[in-house]
Amino acid sequence: GKEWTDVSDLVEEMAGSEVLIRGRINRLKSSKVLFLILRQSGFTVQCVAKQSEETDVMIKYLKQLSCESFVDVIGVVVIPKDPVKGTTQQVEIQMRKVYCVNKALTRLPITVEDAARSEEDIEKSLKDNKKAAPRVNQDTRLNNRVIDIRTPANQAIFRLVCHVENFFREKLLSKAFVGIHTPKLMAGSSEGGSAVFRLECKGQPACLAQSPQLHKQMAICGDLRRVFEIGPVFRAEDSFTHRHLCEFVGLDVEMEIHKHYSEIMDLVDELFVFIFTSLNEKCKKELEAVGKQYPFEPLKFLEKTLRLTFEEGVQMLKEAGVEVDPFGDLNTESERKLGQLVLEKYNTEFYILHRYPTAVRPFYTMPCADNPLYSNSFDVFIRGEEIISGAQRVHIPEVLEKRAGECGIDVKTISTYIDSFRYGAPPHGGFGVGLERVIMLFCALNNIRKTSLFPRDPQRLTP
Ligand code: 4AD
Repeated sequence: GKEWTDVSDLVEEMAGSEVLIRGRINRLKSSKVLFLILRQSGFTVQCVAKQSEETDVMIKYLKQLSCESFVDVIGVVVIPKDPVKGTTQQVEIQMRKVYCVNKALTRLPITVEDAARSEEDIEKSLKDNKKAAPRVNQDTRLNNRVIDIRTPANQAIFRLVCHVENFFREKLLSKAFVGIHTPKLMAGSSEGGSAVFRLECKGQPACLAQSPQLHKQMAICGDLRRVFEIGPVFRAEDSFTHRHLCEFVGLDVEMEIHKHYSEIMDLVDELFVFIFTSLNEKCKKELEAVGKQYPFEPLKFLEKTLRLTFEEGVQMLKEAGVEVDPFGDLNTESERKLGQLVLEKYNTEFYILHRYPTAVRPFYTMPCADNPLYSNSFDVFIRGEEIISGAQRVHIPEVLEKRAGECGIDVKTISTYIDSFRYGAPPHGGFGVGLERVIMLFCALNNIRKTSLFPRDPQRLTP
């Protein structure tokens, strides 16, 4: 009838009491005293057994257990004479009994200790001794993701991702948005282009949704007024990059607007300042754990998010000697460069670039009333990389049909979408965010695979 205590709850006030804890063997060290570092999620505590007649059998038993095995420890909480180094908990457990709950293999494909090494540390050991090559590169980690997830940094990353999702939902619910779920099996592609997974659905050609775009707009046509969705998005990406996955989690928003697409940017501003501030205030421990393995500088953002027009951006690049097509899209390199220029001039790493050329935006994007070569659209950047794209949408069915045709979309496959606007539709717009990119860029991580639990990319469908 004894209750288990969480490792994270083991504190000095409990000194003298007997506890039962379950965790993994993080490390075993034995000299005159046997030390067992017990780990539970990101928390660790040192358990000790002094060699004596009473502990002899237990110590022998422990010594043959492999790291990562699960054990139940019964012991007494003590305050050690010298502070314990390298554990998250400051108390020690004097072991009385140990039971092995389940053994792990003696030789694991990677060790948690190796996976938890900082890149600097690996670099250093490479320099010191060329033979001591890093045993865990990104691919090895991902092949053995179940072990890799156990590191303190990864434990923190997936908690941070969850917090972002929660802050997003919290803010939108407080502003009368409705959370919805749209189908992922579609008759046709929603964004156009080649990045669509085609499949067959009981004899009918079908696609996996490239975004909730069409159905979130149809929800607006259905009078839900303000909607959001958190759900999977599928993209048949050809290229293998540090920031593209074939499946990611989309944070999507769609809302009625009254006058101007700036209303959508106002929401982006409020929502993301809230998310960043909440991360900084409520997730200090997690951010610190990530920073230990992957050092980063806190994100610089303004209370009121900077907005630049695409034309202004092009001009800034031009003045810095970078020529870009004023009616083309920015490539990754010029986006980065612009990010640097913005940081130097405005001291922010988070900003909105709006009024993109119509030619580089999807068919459903509303062109500007004063100049149809530009559109009521925007992208948002963190540290020079795109995190959000959004726009006001075309709500006039005839225009929508024409634009879809011009963009090479088979109008038949989206006829129910276009019809939705024939039944009366308000001016509206929205945006989409890649969830994995939020924490990747907030923490300046170098690869989106670090923030996806089991990433899917053009070369990876397992584990
Ligand atoms: O820019 P995207 O393609 O825009 C849309 O899907 C629109 N329907 C959204 C809208 O409401 N206008 O995707 C939106 C965001 C990107 O800014 C990026 O953060 C993320 O989704 N994203 C990806 N993340 C990971 N892997 C990929 N392959 C991604 N493609 C886009």
